[in-house]
Amino acid sequence: MRLDKFICDCTGLTRTQAGKSIRQGLVSINGELVKQAARQVSVTDQVELDGEPLQLIGPRYIMLHKPAGYVCANDDPEHPIVFTLLDEPLVERLHTVGRLDLDTTGLLLLTDDGQWSHRLTSPKHHVAKTYRVWTADPIPADAIAQFAAGVMLRGEKEPTKPAQLELVATHEALLTIHEGRYHQVKRMFAAIGNKVERLHRERIGALQLPVDLAEGEYRSLNEEEIRLLS
Ligand code: URA
Repeated sequence: MRLDKFICDCTGLTRTQAGKSIRQGLVSINGELVKQAARQVSVTDQVELDGEPLQLIGPRYIMLHKPAGYVCANDDPEHPIVFTLLDEPLVERLHTVGRLDLDTTGLLLLTDDGQWSHRLTSPKHHVAKTYRVWTADPIPADAIAQFAAGVMLRGEKEPTKPAQLELVATHEALLTIHEGRYHQVKRMFAAIGNKVERLHRERIGALQLPVDLAEGEYRSLNEEEIRLLS
């Protein structure tokens, strides 16, 4: 990789800024001052900028226990965004894997690997997502069959794909869906005449939100967890 590109990738500087630092004599490779932006850098090279060693960042795979009141967007005029919960370098390079509503809590993945997030969200791959749902009215037993058959959501032409509903209590259930339509869970319950009062995502594919990850906390996925989702 070119030296100026390497500096951009490590620091978030623009190509122009990186080039300027190189011309100013602030950059060394393996202790030797380098003034050519086009010089190739290999994985074993030690690059320093202004005396600080540079390291490539990513790809990063993060799970966050999203609290209510945070928006899955890059900016929002009214509410804090989920990225403010992360204390990470170059946080602006991360994106959320799908979205949770402002009032939804639970498992949210963030990454800078676009291919990985695409695979997880693309309708082709049908990755299962499990939500714990609390409703305003009791959930009738026949909701299981209705969701298994698919329900028509307001304003849509195709019924929802078969979804699995497990009743937990009169007003509480676990719902597993295999697609990601806009406000899907809330609209599915609206379609059977009920209202979601609270929504919490517990699982994506084989990855369960760990019980020891408190609301607002996050951590990197380990190798095994990345493998489970790949
Ligand atoms: N379905 C919803 O209605 N809201 C969410 O946040 C996620 C799934």
